[in-house]
Amino acid sequence: MSGSDIRGVPVSTTDPVCIDLLERALEAVNAFDGDPVALIDEALAHDPRFVMGHVFKAALLTQAMETRIYADMVRHLEAAEALAAGANDRERGHMAAIRAWVEGDFHGAVQLWEAVANAHPFDLLAVMLVHLSGVLLGDVPNQRDCVARVFPLWDESVPGYEFILGFYSFGLEEMRDFSRAEELGRQAIALRPNHPYAFHAVAHVMEMRGRQLGGVQFMNYRREMWEISNFSNHLWWHLSLFHLDLDRIDMTLKIYDHHLRGSGHEGEKYEELDCAALLWRLGLLGVDVGRRWQDLAVKWQPAATDTLYAFNDVHAMMAFTGAGRADLQHTLLTANERFVANADDANVAMSREIGLPFCHAMQDFAAERYADCVARLMPVRYLTHRLGGSHAQRDVIAWTLLEAALRAGDGDLALALANERCQQKPTSPQNWKFVARAHGLRGDKDRARRAEAKVEELRVA
Ligand SMILES: [Fe+2]
Repeated sequence: MSGSDIRGVPVSTTDPVCIDLLERALEAVNAFDGDPVALIDEALAHDPRFVMGHVFKAALLTQAMETRIYADMVRHLEAAEALAAGANDRERGHMAAIRAWVEGDFHGAVQLWEAVANAHPFDLLAVMLVHLSGVLLGDVPNQRDCVARVFPLWDESVPGYEFILGFYSFGLEEMRDFSRAEELGRQAIALRPNHPYAFHAVAHVMEMRGRQLGGVQFMNYRREMWEISNFSNHLWWHLSLFHLDLDRIDMTLKIYDHHLRGSGHEGEKYEELDCAALLWRLGLLGVDVGRRWQDLAVKWQPAATDTLYAFNDVHAMMAFTGAGRADLQHTLLTANERFVANADDANVAMSREIGLPFCHAMQDFAAERYADCVARLMPVRYLTHRLGGSHAQRDVIAWTLLEAALRAGDGDLALALANERCQQKPTSPQNWKFVARAHGLRGDKDRARRAEAKVEELRVA
């Protein structure tokens, strides 16, 4: 039986209950509101032969990047494949993409989802999966282009247009097209005030442009629109970054304790990522974070042998290194080295090229082998996008490299790197602090003093 969703995209059922629940699940995912899995489970309980129900659930699970969900993902993929004879081409395209993902061919999966989106430009799920996979895999241009390929066909009359705008806004931001990114992000928020992904895209614009005070205002303005969403943790992290850049350490720790450390439940991967990423930055600034590292390392412990996603592994390593847990560092490195030697999937390249070098560099940093840390990171500093995540997230690597150069006493390199940062973000007090320290190391007291004055000027601006 052939039906379609509210955008006219073909679905191999005409059952309005299934189609409605699928739409609500898609909205829940994109609005970060409610439980999309529960909605799809309800549809599958209503009709266990609902192909797109199985496809949707398996597709969603691809994005979780944790081995523990693989059994569930494979179960739903197999259920969908068993129904393939009655499915349509679009649904079979999704199945092929998920099959490629399950087999470790993440980039092949993205190409298959792209083909689905090319054939069905209103397939919001397919566009979403290409966009979000681009973020996971560090395929930066495709985060923007997956939307560009279908954008001329969409307008406000198509349900879900605000989500397409949100993806486009973030993709444009990552490609440094900041003004258009902000324009589309704000347009998305105007259409849907409770749109955390659009808030997120605009926050990224402000982060990249060094608009810290504007960022604090923007995030606090209508905070009620994002703070109850399933994306609130990461948005709090962005707010904390603005404070950190302004050297407001108390505010940063306050956000960590009240909003990032959060539920205390294990397995909240995004929460754990943001926590590690913030504590590592605080550590680079020399802030004593007390027992926070120890608590976080315990949460990351199950991930030590996961080896599914290098981006997770480096954040686990931050926690293990920060906490001084040599046992967990050893477990993670051993598991990853074995994985890189024996496997041959997309994550092997990510791990080998960036993941493992950064993990070792963090160990060097913690052991005060700063010159070694610099030597490990210099060759990979322009390859870090392959780790996945955003520019703002990966900036932790550049920050670690610069701090290591300073602590190694390499004033020439430190000044060069600090100048780079300052040229990109001249309104950042932290960047000017780096410049001041680098000039100090080189014995240029005059320039060091001028840079320190700049720090003070920006801090109170
Ligand atoms: Fe972000």
